Amino acid sequence: MNSFENRRSFIKKAGALAGAFSVNSFFNRLHAAEWQELEKAHLHKSPLEMATDEDYWTVIQQGYSASSSPIIILNNGGVSPSPLAVQQAVERFNQMSNQGPSYYMWRILDQGRENLRAGLAKLGGCDPEEVAINRNATEALVTIIYGLDLQKGDEVIGSTQDYPNMMQAWQQRALREGIVYKQLTFNFPSENDEEIVAAYRKAITSKTKIIHLTHVINWNGQIMPILKIARMAHEKGLEVIVDGAHSYGLLDFKIPDLEADYFGTSLHKYLSAPIGSGMLWIKKEKITKVWPLICAGDPKSDNIRKFENLGTRSFPIEQGIGEALNFHNAIGTKRKEERIRYLKDYWATKAEKIPGVKIHTSLKREFSCALAGVSVDGLTPGELESRLMRDFKIHTTPISIANINCVRVSPHVYTKISDLDNLVFGLEKISKG
Ligand SMILES: Cc1ncc(COP(=O)(O)O)c(C=O)c1O
Repeated sequence: MNSFENRRSFIKKAGALAGAFSVNSFFNRLHAAEWQELEKAHLHKSPLEMATDEDYWTVIQQGYSASSSPIIILNNGGVSPSPLAVQQAVERFNQMSNQGPSYYMWRILDQGRENLRAGLAKLGGCDPEEVAINRNATEALVTIIYGLDLQKGDEVIGSTQDYPNMMQAWQQRALREGIVYKQLTFNFPSENDEEIVAAYRKAITSKTKIIHLTHVINWNGQIMPILKIARMAHEKGLEVIVDGAHSYGLLDFKIPDLEADYFGTSLHKYLSAPIGSGMLWIKKEKITKVWPLICAGDPKSDNIRKFENLGTRSFPIEQGIGEALNFHNAIGTKRKEERIRYLKDYWATKAEKIPGVKIHTSLKREFSCALAGVSVDGLTPGELESRLMRDFKIHTTPISIANINCVRVSPHVYTKISDLDNLVFGLEKISKG
């Protein structure tokens, strides 16, 4: 079967869907049989060996409509597309909702949240009672930033390379309440964890209460030594907040193993859940002390569900998370991590050999996975991004923040090797002027 017929067969099967409400239904009908066969054929292979198995990944690519986009999408770090199974689940839940929103959303779909909580917790290696479902990483992290009691003069340490929404939330607290928000700036890429830990340690004073960290720096893909910083911070009695927007659903880790206190992530990045889905994790014993952004009943409750009072939100989007989990779990986190790291290494190791091209990310496996930055001498990030789009139909994102200036490239499981060959070809052409 050629790839077009393959895709048609996915769509045909999808068309035959019954309306059963089950987190498994769409995935099973679309992919389960096919993937069972695939699994049988690949049982003996390690995730690292699987990373280069194009037969396997071609089938995965078929699960995404984005793999046939007329534009090569290499900004999955911004927001990722969903597989067909997820898209169809959302459509089906939307149709169901519109048959009578107050009944189907509030009486039927609302019942599905506990399953999702269990599935997200399993993937995060944590207790479901520590997981709240919301709409994005911003909502998750701002809930923590605004929800913690701090006094005038209390200090928070972050970095100029954290995400702007979080920096601005801390700056707002500084303006409004007189807390002190200190920001470090690192020279990325770094292959020196100790230097990073030492910088945070040095910034701590007797007034410091919180360290705010980004697990994977979205600007250049640097993986931060969260565990080492968290241990150091806890020795000094501080709390640690982790922005995991680019790590959950990509890196093979358990949230509690980071030893942080709070963790927020989007689900519409590497998990490929519907756009507008997110998750908040709070260490069990800390739930009581965090004020909810939107109050529901007892704000001092130790029930994580107090953070889910969002008003009317999209139930179809939320319920689509279940299908994204099914799709993700069918691949497996470690396999996905290794494949995406391989894709990044594939283009970056070729690109770094081109005269005038610079990679802004460490390619050592412990310091990066999906995201890497690239620049071409003589071009601003904006100019390079425009040339890639105009001349090669490659969509990336220009980065100019703090001391980082590059174009960020972020492939996903549906990215084809030929897409990356096109990128390298484009960089070669552009670098020649
Ligand atoms: C590190 C980081 N944190 C948070 C966010 C915000 O994500 P969202 O827009 O889903 O809230 C982003 C978005 O790119 C990010 O890169």
